[in-house]
Amino acid sequence: MTVSKLENLTVAGAGVLGGQIAWHSAFKGKNVVVYNRSETGLASCRVAHETYANIYKQDLGATDLEIEQTKQRLVFTTDLEKAVSNADIVIEAIPEILDVKIKFYQSMQEFLPEHTILATNSSTLLPSDFAEHTGRPEKFGALHFANLIWSMNLAEVMAHEGTSEQTLIDTTRFAVEIGMVPIPVEKEYNGYVINAMLVPIINAAQSLITKGVSTPEYIDKTYMIFNRGTSLGPCGIMDIVGFKTIYNVLSYWGEVKNDQDMLDNAQYIKENFVDKGIQGIQGGKGYYQYPNPSFQAEDFLDVPDISKAEEIAKMALLA
Ligand SMILES: NC(=O)c1ccc[n+]([C@@H]2O[C@H](COP(=O)([O-])OP(=O)(O)OC[C@H]3O[C@@H](n4cnc5c(N)ncnc54)[C@H](O)[C@@H]3O)[C@@H](O)[C@H]2O)c1
Repeated sequence: MTVSKLENLTVAGAGVLGGQIAWHSAFKGKNVVVYNRSETGLASCRVAHETYANIYKQDLGATDLEIEQTKQRLVFTTDLEKAVSNADIVIEAIPEILDVKIKFYQSMQEFLPEHTILATNSSTLLPSDFAEHTGRPEKFGALHFANLIWSMNLAEVMAHEGTSEQTLIDTTRFAVEIGMVPIPVEKEYNGYVINAMLVPIINAAQSLITKGVSTPEYIDKTYMIFNRGTSLGPCGIMDIVGFKTIYNVLSYWGEVKNDQDMLDNAQYIKENFVDKGIQGIQGGKGYYQYPNPSFQAEDFLDVPDISKAEEIAKMALLA
């Protein structure tokens, strides 16, 4: 048996990542129910799917027929019972807040068919944080996707102590079936592989801004020069991740690790983005304006014209 038998997927949470997982899985042939607690969330997800349709046509060469078939495989609902009652696998992508996720797992239990397996897409929390609340710990683990799923096609697979081998095999097969490179994480580890590297980079970049040491463009120029060939720096990445999620991650880990810099960064993100409704690339504005952010300009990493030297030097003048 080398197929997952997981044909019916429910994605819980229709935000940045849930919307991408749902669209991509439908594109790869899965039947997908998108569940969100609010109609507004579902409406934004549909708008995001139109954007993805264009990206899949332009970047992946998807045909009009494939896009139409993808749309036909997607169903949207705010009714939890309807959402999960026929699911082979539920991928949870609701906000990165422990209590919110725990309540969700508890409320879903009564509606789940016996065979359904569950996976959290949580970025930094652990499967063991929720396992007992799922009512089926052996059928539960983590399957963590990266933002821009169609090009950053990895899925990290992480168990908790009680996850069964079969659940891991099915989850990993499912990941392969939807075109992901599965990355096994061999221990429960906060942040998996990707965020164990990414969160410190984002936090370090944000500290430079919060403390007034540098600006988003110069931070990204620096990063993109020492990582020649990369298309993004940490501030561009923050726009992609979205400020609500960054706030949730930094405020949670700032508290857990008693890290004042992280807490200050969370506060900065809250005041300058979250409270003002600035989402990042999803809303067309973050550290950069979209489309055509300045870091994508051909001359972004070029040596500046000598006439700019004075202006640049003045930025280094101590206040
Ligand atoms: N944004 C990223 O780059 C990224 C990458 C990998 C993993 N993740 C993880 O995915 C999860 C979701 O992150 P996101 O960035 O998509 O968040 P988001 O804020 O964009 O979306 C969350 C969605 O869940 C909905 N929601 C809230 N409470 C709900 C509930 N009880 N039931 C159903 N829906 C509910 C919200 O209305 C919203 O539509 C988090 O655990 C995050 O850590 C995010």
